[in-house]
Amino acid sequence: MEFCRLDRNAVDELATLEALCFTLPWSKEQLANAFGLPHFAAFGLRAPLRKGSGTGDDAPLAAYLSVYHNPDELEILNLAVAPAWRGRGHGSRLLRLVLRMAAKMGIGRAVLEVRSGNTPALALYTGQGFVQVGRRRGYYRDSGEDALVLEDSEAGILAAIRGKIPVIAVPDLIEPRPELLSRCRARCDSLLDVIRYIA
Ligand SMILES: CC(C)(COP(=O)(O)OP(=O)(O)OC[C@H]1O[C@@H](n2cnc3c(N)ncnc32)[C@H](O)[C@@H]1OP(=O)(O)O)[C@@H](O)C(=O)NCCC(=O)NCCS
Repeated sequence: MEFCRLDRNAVDELATLEALCFTLPWSKEQLANAFGLPHFAAFGLRAPLRKGSGTGDDAPLAAYLSVYHNPDELEILNLAVAPAWRGRGHGSRLLRLVLRMAAKMGIGRAVLEVRSGNTPALALYTGQGFVQVGRRRGYYRDSGEDALVLEDSEAGILAAIRGKIPVIAVPDLIEPRPELLSRCRARCDSLLDVIRYIA
């Protein structure tokens, strides 16, 4: 699996993945608008086309995660793994990779909302150190389900850094050399800038 940053060229495949994974999926238009926002970013895991082969932009998107980010906080918007790729650790791996990048940026807090009945997602998030900090009653308009607000504070994010991170195809994105990181920090003021800079 190759970890990648996604841009607006991925809108069609993201809309397909959204429709497969959510009862209230983001439309192509919503996704395209989001890519126009400076604080929005999306990341994916692409599957190799054949066993042992490399990946590229035309490799199928197995998973994606979108965020809003600011210097203090990462808001996880959506995490989706294509049904055929579920249960193999890809969702947790993608989350860990993004938390790790955020931690390297000095972002100390991650938050998200999840349906109270979404057992797989709750297991994934709590397994990564997220804890419940709130509940929004009747939040989801389709089912009336509550939203649970989960947070991963600095301790959790730092634990993700210390955790075992899988080998991926863009080493500098994961293990930026210290001198590169400090240059990044001096020149970039957003997560997206840093990713652009070190990718
Ligand atoms: C939730 C979702 C992202 C999980 O992705 P995944 O790649 O299958 O998850 P992982 O394989 O990384 O599993 C991580 C943990 O979640 C739990 N989990 C995953 N699927 C589960 C299931 N069907 N039932 C119970 N727990 C489950 C397991 O505890 C697992 O931990 P383990 O490694 O100790 O077994 C995926 O099911 C999905 O895309 N669902 C639809 C979209 C969605 O609900 N997104 C989250 C809301 S934003």
